[in-house]
Amino acid sequence: MTSALPYANGHIHIGHLVEYIQTDIWVRFQKLRGQTCTYVCADDTHGTPIMIRARREGIAPEELIARMHAEHVRDFAAFEIAFDNYYTTHSPENRELAEGIYKALEAGGHITVREVEQAYCEHDRMWLPDRFLKGTCPKCRAADQYGDSCDACGATYRPTDLIDARCAVCGTAPVRKLSDHYFFKLGDFARELQEWVGGGHVHPSIANKLQEWFSEGLRDWDISRDGPYFGFLIPGAQDKYFYVWLDAPIGYMASFRNLCARTGQDFDAYWQADRADETELHHFLGKDITYFHALFWPAMLMGSGYRTPTQLAIHGFLTVDGQKMSKSRGTFIQARTFARHLPPQALRYYYASKLGPDPEDLDLSLEDFVNRINAELVGKLANLVSRAARMVLSKLDGRTCEPDPAAAGMIDAIRAAADEIAGHYESRNFALAVRRICALADEANRYLEQTQPWQTVKTDAELARQQLSAALEASRLLAVYLKPVVPGFVERTEACLAIEPLTWASLSESPSPRTLGEFQRLADRLDAKAVQALIDETREDQAADK
Ligand code: 2FM
Ligand code: ZN
Repeated sequence: MTSALPYANGHIHIGHLVEYIQTDIWVRFQKLRGQTCTYVCADDTHGTPIMIRARREGIAPEELIARMHAEHVRDFAAFEIAFDNYYTTHSPENRELAEGIYKALEAGGHITVREVEQAYCEHDRMWLPDRFLKGTCPKCRAADQYGDSCDACGATYRPTDLIDARCAVCGTAPVRKLSDHYFFKLGDFARELQEWVGGGHVHPSIANKLQEWFSEGLRDWDISRDGPYFGFLIPGAQDKYFYVWLDAPIGYMASFRNLCARTGQDFDAYWQADRADETELHHFLGKDITYFHALFWPAMLMGSGYRTPTQLAIHGFLTVDGQKMSKSRGTFIQARTFARHLPPQALRYYYASKLGPDPEDLDLSLEDFVNRINAELVGKLANLVSRAARMVLSKLDGRTCEPDPAAAGMIDAIRAAADEIAGHYESRNFALAVRRICALADEANRYLEQTQPWQTVKTDAELARQQLSAALEASRLLAVYLKPVVPGFVERTEACLAIEPLTWASLSESPSPRTLGEFQRLADRLDAKAVQALIDETREDQAADK
C-alpha cells in the first residue's frame, strides 16, 4: 500500500490529508481483518524547486530535506497516519533501484537521446524549468506570469512565447541553449499499457480518460535534467540527472526495500513480475498525477521485469466551503495549524463521512464539519459509551454483567451489519460505512432512551446493570467498525471497557462480565470559534510568509 510521496519543499496541508487519511483508513481496515498489509511512503526530495529553496536558505539540500522529513513525520503522526515505513527518495536503496530500472530500459532499447533547447540562466548557472521563467503573457499581456501558463487569462503556451522572459530567481534574461536529453520511449509499451488499463486496475472514468491519451498517441518522456540538479546522476551520462518523476515512484519500492531489511519481509514476492499473483500492490493518489501512475510507472515496471499495480485508487481534490483552498481566504490550512486548534480525529471522521470510491472532489464545509462532528462523533458515538460507562462507574461499582436479554435484537442487528460494513470499507465507500455505523448507534441510543437505566437504577440496580451492559456491548461492536476511521477514539474506548485491542474477529466474541477502566474523554464538541481562530491564524501565517 502506498500514498503519493509528498514533496520535501512544502508542509503537509489539509488537501494532502485527504489522501493520507483515505489510505490509512483502508490499511487499518485490512489489518483489522487480519490481512498482511504494509503501508509505505516517503518524502519526494529531488528536483529544481528543492535545490533552489535550499540555495535561498543558504543550506545544503540534504539539510533541507532532513528538516522537512522530521516535520512531515510529526504532522502525519498527529493525524494518526500509521505508515509501516516513512522513508526518503534520497536514499541508497532508491539510487540502486532507479539505476537498475534505467539500465533495464536502456538494455531493452527503450531509451533514446535527442537535443532539446531550453532556457538557461547564466547568472544562476542553471537550466530553468517552465515554472522558473517569468514574463508577460503573450495572449493577455498580464505581467509576471509563469513560463507555461497565465494565471490571469488561463492561456497555456510554450516558454519561448513568453514576452520579456526572466529567470524567476534572479530576474536575468535567460539564454536559450541546446543539450542532450534522455527520453523513455513510452510508445513501446502502448499495447501492453492499453491492456493493463482495460484490466480493471483503475476506475472506469479514469480508464476512459486514458483511452483518450492512447488515441492521441504516447509521446516519448524526457527523463533527464542537466546539472546542477538535486537528484541521482544517470549512469553512463555526463552531468545528467534523472528527472524527479523518474525516481519518485521508484521511491515506493525503495521504502519497502528499506523496511524489508529490518523486518525480513521478502521484497521479491511483492515486486517480481513472475510472482505477481502472490501479493497485491495498491497505490492511492490524486487525479492530477494519474498520467504518471497509469502510464509512465507501469511502463517502467513492464520494461524492467517488475509487476504492475493491482489497483490505482484515485481521489479528487479538496475544496473548502465549495472553493479551491486559498491563501487569501485562510483556507490553505497546514496540518500542524489544524492540530493546534482542532482535534485531528475530527478531520479523519469528517473526511471518512464524505469519501467514496469515485475520483470526485471532496468539500470541507466548515459549518457542516462542526455540526456533523457534534451531532455524530460526539452526540451519537462518544455519547453512547460515555453515558453508559460513567453510570456503571459512578453508581454500580464499575462492574458489568450479561447484557439485558431484551437488548438481544438491537445487539444482533449491529453484528449482522458486519459484512455490509466490511464491503463498504473494501470498496472504499467510507461514506456509506460511516452512515451505517451511525444508524446502528442511533438504535443503541434509542434503546437507552427507552429503558432509562438512570431511572431503573433507583429501584432495580441489577436490571440497570444489565441495560448498561447491553449499551456497552453495542459500543464495543460499533468500536470495531469505527476503528479504521478513529483509532485513538477506539483505543480509549478499549481502555474504558477494559478489553484487549479490538479486531474484526472481536465481533464474534462476547466478553465476560468485568470491571471497567477509568473513563477517558473520547471526543470533544467543536466550537465554531476554534474554526475561526484556525482560519485567522492561517491567514496570518500566509501574510508572514509573504
Ligand atoms: O505530486 C506530488 O506531490 C508528487 N510529489 C507525487 C509523487 S508520487 C510518486 F510517484 F512518487
Ligand atoms: Zn537567474
